Amino acid sequence: MDCFNEVFTTKNESETLKTAEEFSKLLKPGDVIAYKGNMGAGKTVFTRGIVRGLGGDDAVSSPTFAIVNEYIAGGLSIYHFDMYRIKSINDLYSTGYFDYLESGGIIIIEWSENIESAIPAGAYIINIETTDTNDNCRIITVTKKE
Ligand SMILES: Nc1ncnc2c1ncn2[C@@H]1O[C@H](COP(=O)(O)OP(=O)(O)OP(=O)(O)O)[C@@H](O)[C@H]1O
Ligand SMILES: [Mg+2]
Repeated sequence: MDCFNEVFTTKNESETLKTAEEFSKLLKPGDVIAYKGNMGAGKTVFTRGIVRGLGGDDAVSSPTFAIVNEYIAGGLSIYHFDMYRIKSINDLYSTGYFDYLESGGIIIIEWSENIESAIPAGAYIINIETTDTNDNCRIITVTKKE
């Protein structure tokens, strides 16, 4: 098994951006990143950091209405999904998700909880937790799906 476990604590948005920029250096074409975390946890902020870290200058926002946003960074396509409204495998098919998985681009998924069984082995799982004590603290745990 490929053990991978990194934990980061951030005190504000810019520390999360910096953490994500560092994390992005690990990424290779075809990698999948699946977030777990509530509304407002910081999934979109982390994505912004990844896109910046890869050299992209696109504006990154939650693709809630579009389902998927595409950015280009360092000659690579990044497909940023929001699965908040995806409730079935049929919904998922209609987004083109399975085709994007084969595209060689980097796939980033908010609300991956909704498509758990369709997250491939080897995907990075990024869990972002808030804390009770400070509104701006986040505990970010990165593991790999077996
Ligand atoms: N340490 C932190 N890291 C990231 N964001 C933080 C932090 N502290 C406060 N914030 C704030 O939390 C919010 C995170 O918003 P973001 O859009 O990234 O959440 P999200 O997880 O994508 O939510 P949604 O599920 O609604 O799309 C921002 O307003 C950001 O400024
Ligand atoms: Mg978001």
